Amino acid sequence: MNPPKPPQVTARDDGYPDLIVHNASLVLTCAGKGPRRGSEQDDLHAVPDGAVAVTGSRITAVGPVTDIMQMGGVPTTLLDARGGIVMPGMVDSHTHPVYGGNRADEFLKRLAGASYEELHAAGGGIQATVDATRKMRVADLVESARGRLWSMFFAGVTTFEAKSGYGLSVASEMTQLQAIRELDAEGPWELVPTFLGAHALPRECADDRGGYVDLVCEKMIPKVAALELAEFCDVFCERGAFTVEESRRILQTGQAHGLIPKLHADELSPSGGTRLGVELGARSVDHLPYVNDEEIELLGKSNTAAVLLPATSFFLFKDRYAPGRKLVDAGAIVALASDHNPGSSHTLSMGRVLELGVMRCGLTVREALNAVTVNAAYAVGREKEVGTLEPGKQADIIILNVSTPEDLIYAWGVNHVVAVIKRGRLVDRRRQPDETRPKTQRFSDLFS
Ligand code: NIG
Ligand code: FE
Repeated sequence: MNPPKPPQVTARDDGYPDLIVHNASLVLTCAGKGPRRGSEQDDLHAVPDGAVAVTGSRITAVGPVTDIMQMGGVPTTLLDARGGIVMPGMVDSHTHPVYGGNRADEFLKRLAGASYEELHAAGGGIQATVDATRKMRVADLVESARGRLWSMFFAGVTTFEAKSGYGLSVASEMTQLQAIRELDAEGPWELVPTFLGAHALPRECADDRGGYVDLVCEKMIPKVAALELAEFCDVFCERGAFTVEESRRILQTGQAHGLIPKLHADELSPSGGTRLGVELGARSVDHLPYVNDEEIELLGKSNTAAVLLPATSFFLFKDRYAPGRKLVDAGAIVALASDHNPGSSHTLSMGRVLELGVMRCGLTVREALNAVTVNAAYAVGREKEVGTLEPGKQADIIILNVSTPEDLIYAWGVNHVVAVIKRGRLVDRRRQPDETRPKTQRFSDLFS
């Protein structure tokens, strides 16, 4: 490996376009007719020796460097990719980034042999994070999530889906969604909000499942919709969480209020969630280690994306991963996401997710790259704005210190991202304030 090559920025003061990214071994445009399916998922629509021109926050041209440099006008900024790869900013289409506390103690217990399901059944797991989150105000949640988002951003993610689901009361779910709204406004990233009131049954409703589902449908969803706090409504459809019938009622109520359905499906056992997602026209069904062949075929024929979360299987020490190879071969729209959360997937790295997508779910490197760009943008309903490098799209661009896509995975365990551009602006690493560097990730906080 060569030492990291920081991009060179040359300021110019004579005009148009504002920015040209040049000297790329390949520009992976990921452009095409729409989300990728089947054999098309392996095609990155790459431009060798390419360049990207940007005006304001939008891409104005993508093509061979010779064409772009002859466009006329001289750019304000020339950004030299130094022979690296230029590709769309990644979209992390499934995260739970806003929460209180951490679950390092449970991680230690799991290392010693306890299972995630046992900890959940004993009142830990999601409930432990709910207890910590309910104590926090909007400003506390913003403060604690900010550092996580900066880490993920500099690992190449420019758009995040972000879920509530650690409040499980009307007030606390709204607090989480308000925090997501504030973090989105703070930028440089953008967040796509998802309401996940049906993440677990809160302790106080342990003997009243129906009462909690009523609360979600009658109080939470109307409030979320009235305050326009979310675009999607998600449910954890799983043994020990919510049944297919409960999930259907919640998601249909969401739909009636303009919230698009998503599901946590077939994660720890066959849950029927994938079938329900396809039936309801969900934008995505997520997790899927236990999806069966019939459901794979259904996904292949549907417009519901299959979002694989292999970092969760890895972090829970499971042997079973979502069958990515079969899903791509069946023609499903396959995306990969981090599932960042304090319990089952405590990673901030899309690089690790790409590696597991390839080395555990059976995707090719190119399929995995489309799974974190064009298909992930589709999974969060942002396909018109982000996920590809095409004229008219938002200028969300990253530069990687590798010259072929395959090197990205072959040299695994490394953050290859050397520059992140969001809405046409190169974001300087020094912009990350010191106090936002993640503190809650340390064991020492827990035991001090
Ligand atoms: O996506 N599966 C359900 N929800 C999360 C886990 C949340 C937690 O453990 O705190 C997930 O894996
Ligand atoms: Fe999740």
